[in-house]
Amino acid sequence: MELIVIDKDKAALFPHRPFAIRHNLIGHPLLTLDALAALAGRLDADRVEYNSGKLRPNQRPEDVPAVNLAPEDVVRRIETADAWMVLKNVETLPEYRRLIEEALDGAARAMGYPDARAAGMLDFEGFIFVASALAVTPFHMDYEENFFVHLAGDKAMHVFDNSDRTLVREPEMEIYPGKHRNLYYEPAFESRAQVFEMKPGDGLFLPYTWPHWVRTGNRWAASMAITWKSKRDVRLNSLYFVNAVLRKAGWAQPAPGRHKVWDAVKVGGYTAARAAIEPFRRSEGMRRRLRALFFGRKANYYYRETPQP
Ligand SMILES: [Fe+2]
Repeated sequence: MELIVIDKDKAALFPHRPFAIRHNLIGHPLLTLDALAALAGRLDADRVEYNSGKLRPNQRPEDVPAVNLAPEDVVRRIETADAWMVLKNVETLPEYRRLIEEALDGAARAMGYPDARAAGMLDFEGFIFVASALAVTPFHMDYEENFFVHLAGDKAMHVFDNSDRTLVREPEMEIYPGKHRNLYYEPAFESRAQVFEMKPGDGLFLPYTWPHWVRTGNRWAASMAITWKSKRDVRLNSLYFVNAVLRKAGWAQPAPGRHKVWDAVKVGGYTAARAAIEPFRRSEGMRRRLRALFFGRKANYYYRETPQP
């Protein structure tokens, strides 16, 4: 039994357009509420982000209210906590890594590839979301591709075309140093949304940088994002980063793809710099210091003070 189920007629949409999927991860021992509470306590502090779930699609980053509970308690009390939580990079734990590999290999086979690597799925990561009833994840985009599998409760993802620059302008596409995830949103956008209403067992494929916002239904909800980056995604990410740095220096850049040679120079420079930094990113303390050094203290915005007992 494959963990991710993809209809044959949907495979042709991959990787350029979103489509609904089904999955067989309900009740998996790594994804019960108890397992997720334990997981929240095991991950490094910078891999557990949580705040109040009482947000709007256009919530200003500086106005996001905090939740004063320890991570395990947010999960255990999710029915009443009015909270939204993401457990990041669960692939850093071997059992979750195996689960993700199995899911992606199966999905790749369903789309006619021998395995995930052959389907261009590299740098895979796992993110698990736990949210109280009526929680909103504001409008944003992710710089990776995603099989989003819904595990508990009701959830709707409102997805928007990533080629529509009237929704997200080119500077907002860039990976701006210290940039908060939330993007500018107005209700008039909504007529252009493709809405995926999900019950447990449902999911969707979300392509690279397709903007979206998410709301949960009348009870607590859990989902997992199984993500990866293709070589093209990695290249675009480095261009969006370099373009943001150059824009900040007063030298705004054309969108990726307009100047191929100049794009190649930027990607080469970025790749060399990144390789030099990579060995320092293995510890949480160094990751925190590097973020502050390069992006300013706001880049560590999701750290909070130690919760009150
Ligand atoms: Fe997202």
